Parts: sequence; structure tokens; C-alpha cells
Amino acid sequence: MSYFTRSREFFEVMTACEPISGSILATLTSGARQLTVGASREIKCVGVEFEGKSLDIVLSVDCTGSGEAGKHAHEVKLQEIAAMTIHNRLTRTLGIKHPILLAPMDVVSGGRLAAAVSNAGGLGLLGGGYGDRDWIERERARAGNARIGCGFITWSLAKRPELLDGVLAHRPAAVMLSFGDPRPFGPTIRAADVRLICQVQTVAQAREALEAGADVIVAQGTEAGGHGQTEPLITLLPRVVDLCPGTPVVAAGGIADGRGVAAAMMLGAQGVLMGTRFYASEEAEGHPDAKQRIVAGEGGDTVRSIVFDLSRRNRWPAPYTGRVLRNRHAERWLGREAELEARVEEVAHDYAEARERGDFDVAAVIVGEACALIHDILPAGEIVERVVAEAERLLPPQGDIVG
Ligand SMILES: Cc1cc2nc3c(=O)[nH]c(=O)nc-3n(C[C@H](O)[C@H](O)[C@H](O)COP(=O)(O)O)c2cc1C
Repeated sequence: MSYFTRSREFFEVMTACEPISGSILATLTSGARQLTVGASREIKCVGVEFEGKSLDIVLSVDCTGSGEAGKHAHEVKLQEIAAMTIHNRLTRTLGIKHPILLAPMDVVSGGRLAAAVSNAGGLGLLGGGYGDRDWIERERARAGNARIGCGFITWSLAKRPELLDGVLAHRPAAVMLSFGDPRPFGPTIRAADVRLICQVQTVAQAREALEAGADVIVAQGTEAGGHGQTEPLITLLPRVVDLCPGTPVVAAGGIADGRGVAAAMMLGAQGVLMGTRFYASEEAEGHPDAKQRIVAGEGGDTVRSIVFDLSRRNRWPAPYTGRVLRNRHAERWLGREAELEARVEEVAHDYAEARERGDFDVAAVIVGEACALIHDILPAGEIVERVVAEAERLLPPQGDIVG
């Protein structure tokens, strides 16, 4: 049995850590005092109160361990005892336990996924995308009572602004606007007393977000899946943080584990927004083959281009491009976009058919560079728990870097 802890001052000894009929039990001892904690899944983050302090304990079962048969079949590891989770201005602003946001991925971030992320302590955002009222209503209902928000593609919302009223009427936890000028919508969202999150790709856009009254700004680096621009997160993020000292900044693009979260926080972020990592989750609305391609994806397997948008007759305003996995269709048309446009009738027809039958040698899998870090399809709640636990283990004690 092995474990890491940042709370040795609370627990001198950990004993009797064993799985009992599928649940995990650990007894923690401090002097004469003992605390028993239980968890019902293989890997579990359990919140407990001890000595007036709130603690999060991550228990995990190593199924490859060489334990005895029967109820002691698995070796149990107490991976971490964290004295507290990451609490900062972002978690307070959004009213969430963990500083983890689900990207509002068009169609992929449905009600099940958004609810799973929110129920795990993060913030789930529905992928309102280009704005299909029926889809948004249906997925909001599927999220049940979970406290979720909704994202829109701003330039598309500008064509159908009434969609925003429909979402605000249900008092979402937040509305996220990306790709376009958020200023026309800021007053309406704030008047509804709903948090406004703006995703930006440049410092100039971050200024617009501040003018729109953003409560949270997401700095999206070029590594991100889906649409975006060219500046890498490692330079964009600290520049946006410097511009917005009074507003929590969230990092997006290329983050898939706790190391990415910790690195982003060292650059000044107060949390992260992840898309690609949550696409490879059980609850994501994605084709199983698309998810498998994310798992198989390696570094450098993605490309930012307009080929798939042209092929599906969905032209975006410049300078946006979309990051997707390289496939046969991308290889065929990259650098030949003018010819593709000239033959768009024929190409779009074949492309639509390929999407219909789930042929991802032609249809794009829209993901970012983070696919190189993803090796499994997990329940979304488990992704949140793992990422948070790893980040907390890596970060300096609370208060040292976050306000
Ligand atoms: C499949 C997919 C669809 C996306 N659709 C949207 C969208 O509709 N609106 C939006 O604001 N961002 C969208 N994004 C971008 C995300 O908001 C976010 O910036 C990105 O996922 C972060 O990078 P990561 O994928 O490396 O985590 C999408 C991303 C992916 C992967």
C-alpha cells in the first residue's frame, strides 16, 4: 500500500485500507482520534469533515495489485489526502467546487455530459453551438436538475438573438460566448443576473470581453480542438491574465490532465476549460469510432484548417480555422482550398454521406492537440476527479498562487 499526502499533520497513520464487497474503506488515525472513510467505486474522491476541516481524499484500487483472493483481492492505494480543494475567485464566481469547465462543444456536449461534469463539482456547459432551439431544450431537460450553463457561437447567435432569451428564461448557471463580439449581448445576460463567460483568442478580444462585462474570460490557445486562431496558450494566457487582474481567467487548449491544470495555474489561470478530454468520455454525444480515434491520436496528428468547414458548407468568418484530426479527406484537400470551393457541390454531397455513415476517413473528428495525452474513454465525473487530484498534488499549498 502506498500513498501521498499533503496532510500528514492531520493523519499520522493510515490503516485497514481494504475493499469490502466492492467498496473501499480506509481508517485514518491521528493520535487517539480515528476517521473511517468509505467509497463505493474503484476510484473515488470522498469529501469528509475531520477536526472541523473539510478534506478531500482520493482512494484508488490498483486492480493489477497482487492482493489475496476474495474481499482483499485488490491492493488499495490512498493516492492523496488534500487538505482542501482548489478554491479561488473562479470557483466562487461560478459557485462550483472544482475549477474545471466543460467546453460547450457543438452537439458533443449534450445534457448527459454537462450534468456529469456539474455533478462532479465542475461546470457543465451545453454545446448550444449554432443555435438549434429544439436541441438546446431537449438537452437541457436531459441534464435534469444539474446546475449547468450553455455556450453559443457568437457570430451565429447574432443572426438569431432570440435564442438567448430562451436560454436565459431557465436561469442557467452561466452563458458562454465564443467567436465574435460579445458586447451586444453582455447587458442582456447581466440583466438576467446570469454569469457571462467569454472565450477569446487574442488580447484585443479580451478587452472586448471586459467591455461586455464578462465575469470569466477563457483564453483559448491554438492547441484547442475546434475553431480558434493562431496564438499558443503559453503566451496568450499570461498576456490575458495581465490585462484582466480583476477577472478570473480560465485556460483552454491542449489540457487533458492535472499537469496541464497545474501548469495553467502557474501561468495565472484560475481554472481550465477542456473539450477534447471530455469528448473521450462515456457521456459525450459522439460516435464510438470518433472517440476511439481520439484515444489513438498522437502528437501532431491534428491540423488547423478550413477544409472541413468548406466541405460541410459552413464557412466561418476569417481568421477562424478549425482544428481536426488529420484524415484522408484533409490530406487530399489541404493547400487546395480554392479548388475545393470550386467543386463544393460534389465534395459536400460526398462529405455529408460520409458523416451520415460515420466514415471518419472523410468526415472530420473535431479535436485538439490534447488527443496525444488521452488514452482511455472514462466517465466524465472520473475525469474531473482524476484531473483535480493530480493538479492538487502538483500545486503549491493553497493561497500561494491563487487568490
Ligand atoms: C468537438 C468540439 C466542438 C467544439 N465546439 C465548440 C462550440 O460550439 N463553441 C465553442 O465555444 N467552442 C467549441 N469548441 C472549442 C472549445 O470551446 C474549447 O476551446 C476547446 O475544446 C479547448 O481545447 P481542448 O479541446 O484542447 O480542450 C469545440 C471543441 C471541440 C473539440
